[in-house]
Parts: sequence; structure tokens; C-alpha cells
Amino acid sequence: MNDLLYVNGGTPLNGTITVRGAKNFVSKAMVASLLGEGPSVLRNVPQIRDVGVVTGLLELHGVKVVADEVAGTLHLDPTDVESAHVADIDAHAGSSRIPILFCGPLLHRLGEAFIPDLGGCRIGDRPINYHLDILRQFGAVVDKREQGIHIRAPRRLQGTKIALPYPSVGATEQLLLTAVRAEGITELSGAAIEPEIMDLIAVLQKMGAIISVDTDRVIRIEGVDKLMGYQHTALGDRIEAASWGSAALATGGDITVKGATQPEMMTFLNTFRKVGGEFEVQEDGIRFYHPGGDLNAIVLETAVHPGFMTDWQQPLVVALTQAKGLSIVHETVYENRFGFTDALRGMGATIQVYKECLGGLPCRFGQRNFHHSAVISGPTPLSAADIEVPDLRGGFSHLIAALAAKGTSTVRGIGLIDRGYEYFQDKLDALGADVSRG
Ligand code: EPU
Repeated sequence: MNDLLYVNGGTPLNGTITVRGAKNFVSKAMVASLLGEGPSVLRNVPQIRDVGVVTGLLELHGVKVVADEVAGTLHLDPTDVESAHVADIDAHAGSSRIPILFCGPLLHRLGEAFIPDLGGCRIGDRPINYHLDILRQFGAVVDKREQGIHIRAPRRLQGTKIALPYPSVGATEQLLLTAVRAEGITELSGAAIEPEIMDLIAVLQKMGAIISVDTDRVIRIEGVDKLMGYQHTALGDRIEAASWGSAALATGGDITVKGATQPEMMTFLNTFRKVGGEFEVQEDGIRFYHPGGDLNAIVLETAVHPGFMTDWQQPLVVALTQAKGLSIVHETVYENRFGFTDALRGMGATIQVYKECLGGLPCRFGQRNFHHSAVISGPTPLSAADIEVPDLRGGFSHLIAALAAKGTSTVRGIGLIDRGYEYFQDKLDALGADVSRG
């Protein structure tokens, strides 16, 4: 596949596109199918590379996966689950962090699991210490080896009481996927409660799990002896929807995103309105548009749900380069998520990054060497450039910047965007963008 995209920008994006199921839910629901004694059916599945990676990993472990890509349906049959070879797991996992979430289900089914060296987006260290601590607390034995980490369960995993130091999405999912079939009760405090996690809980409940969620980030799970397959329709991708909303704002356009839902996007919609964007919630989607006139500078802090998602930050920053005045963005989820602003500066944006916690409460990255606050001064016209995609969300933001900039930009490494944005080039075509693969 050619990894270059030429973007002739400077014209507003106008039109209608559709987003399907959330990347950060679908992959976890696919893993959950391993826990069932019968087949599962997952609907509204997008055709993105991360789904392909998890499909490959499930197949390596003996799960039969039948996909109808047009309909967006996956049939997952875990009847013949088996151990996979270390080298195969490594080869299939690519840069995905998903193998870590196979551990709980595989420990229950096979008594052992293996995690290769993990990748994911280059947005910080992305450690897995919470995951390993959780598995150990259930009674698993973790053994770090040269090719990766081997984990085994000498006996049935035992329910436990765990407090997370930070409401990590992945660690909360790890705990859920492990606790549902552990013996006895598990209590997690400091849990993440993102909508994608709530949808995973809904899937597990359909499978036969007993899970309660309190208002104070406490989740309680009563372990059961067996689980069944499930049938479920994935919630929509609120990160992709917000990315297109930001693209409408940055290019002065008007984009209707079918499949976008208001309850999961309330925090984004509030911010979108404060910046000066307008939106219309429709029966089957949300229309995002630039009403004309100046956009407003804002002060923004990313946070865990129900705060402003870290994954919404990069696309919106591109729109903020077009807002009048000084905007301040404090990133509190990842220590290193402003690397993408280098390219924006090269295109004419005025953005400075700081180690201090600006504009909000001190976060765990303050007083350390992380450039995790940004000040954006606008509006500044953007000009075309030669850009290298750094990571999924940063890369999509570069794409938005190129679409807003006058002239023809060359965006390299565009394949990274296929990881999480389904048919993005077709969608750009549908919105009237002038783009072509190099
Ligand atoms: N953390 C640790 N130790 C751990 C796990 C996490 O210190 O063992 C820290 C991380 O370094 C980070 C913070 O906790 O500073 C939050 O990380 P979290 O575990 O919540 O993130 P994740 O589960 O690895 C998922 C999404 C990310 C999204 C975050 C936050 C998936 C596959 N990934 O990552 O999505 O940014 O939650 O909402 O669900 C993306 O879609 O582009 C993406 C990066």
C-alpha cells in the first residue's frame, strides 16, 4: 500500500459521513468472546486495522472468526480455544497493545498467557504495571522473559480488592475480563468509567456476569463459573465523530456525522460550542458546522470520563489555531501528547508547549520533564507542508491541518490512520476534499 497522501487544502469540508463502532470498544468485546462457552455476534464493527489485528490474534488462539465486512458483523466461536506460539503472537500483534487484554480470559481457559513486547501509539511510555499488578493480585504468576511476559495461573484465579492509582481504561478492562470468571467477589476502586467500558460491562452482563457500578468509581464483580456467548451492537466511535467535528471547524465546513451520539459526546459538544462551533443533534447523528465569524480561544483540560477525552485534544487543537486569542490546553492523561504540534508550527501555527500545569489544577505530570501544556495563539493561516504522521490521533490532526492549509501538502505514513479511521479516504472524497494517494 502506498503510504503517501497529497492533500490540496484550503476548501471547507461539506457533506455527510458515517461512523461505525468504537475502535476502543470493539477490540475489547472481541477479546471478551474468549470467555464464552458458545459463539458471539458483534455488530457495527468498523473495518479498521486494529480489528484485523485482534481477529488474527483470536484465530491464533483457535477462535473461529467469520466477518461480514460490509454489514459490519463478526461471528466469533471460541469452542476450540488453544495456546498460540510465542513467535506467532509477536508477529500478529504488530504495534497493538491488545495482547495484554487476552491474559484474563486465557488464564481462565488455558491456565497460561503470553504478552509480546507491546507497542501502540508513540504518545508516552505507556507502561503495563497496573495490568501486571492486577493479574498478580488475582493469583497469577508473572514471569518476564526475553521475548515477552509469560503469565500462568497455578490454580483458579481468586476475586480480590484492588485500588487503581489512576483510572486507567485498559487496567479497568483487564480487571473486568479477569474478575468475571474468578472465584468470589472482586472490588475495584478508582475505576475508569468511559462509555466504552460501560458497553463492555453490558456485553459481559449479557454473557452471564454479575457486575455493579457505583457512582464513586467503584465496580464490584461477583465471579461466576461459566459464561455464554453474546449478541451485541457496538456503541459509535465518539473519537472519530469528534475528529470530523473538529475538521468541520478547522476548515470552515459543515459535516453531518451519522452514528455520532449525544450522551457520549456531551463534554465535547460543550467545548465545541464554547469555541464557537455549532451543532445540531439529529435522529441518527450530529451535524457539526462553522457558523462563520471568529472562533473563540478557550482554556481546556483533558481528563478521564466524564472529562474532555485526551483523544479529542489533538484534532481540536488544529481548530484552535484558527480561534482568536490565546488558548490553553492542559493534557493530564498522557505525559507526551503534544509532539504533533511540531508539524503544526511548521505550517504556520503559533503554539508553545510547557512543562508546567497551565490553566488548571496540578496534575501528576507537573514538576517533571513533560511538555504537557500548550498555549495556542490564533488565528494564524496554515500553509501546506511535507508532514510525517507520528501516531493515530496526531496523524489525523495533521490531516485536518493539511485540509485547512492553502496549497498541496504531502502527508507521509498515512497508513497509520487506517488503524482507527474506517475508509477515511472515501470519507474525505465524500466531503469534497481534494486528496490523492501518492
Ligand atoms: N498507565 C500506567 N500503567 C498502566 C496503564 C496505564 O501508568 O499499567 C497510565 C498511562 O501511561 C496513561 C494513563 O495511565 O498515562 C491512562 O492510560 P489508559 O490505561 O487509560 O490508556 P489505555 O487503556 O492504554 C485507552 C485507549 C486510548 C485512550 C486511553 C485514554 C484503547 C485501545 N486505547 O488506552 O486510545 O487514549 O484509553 O482514554 O482503548 C487511541 O484511540 O488513539 C488511543 C490512544
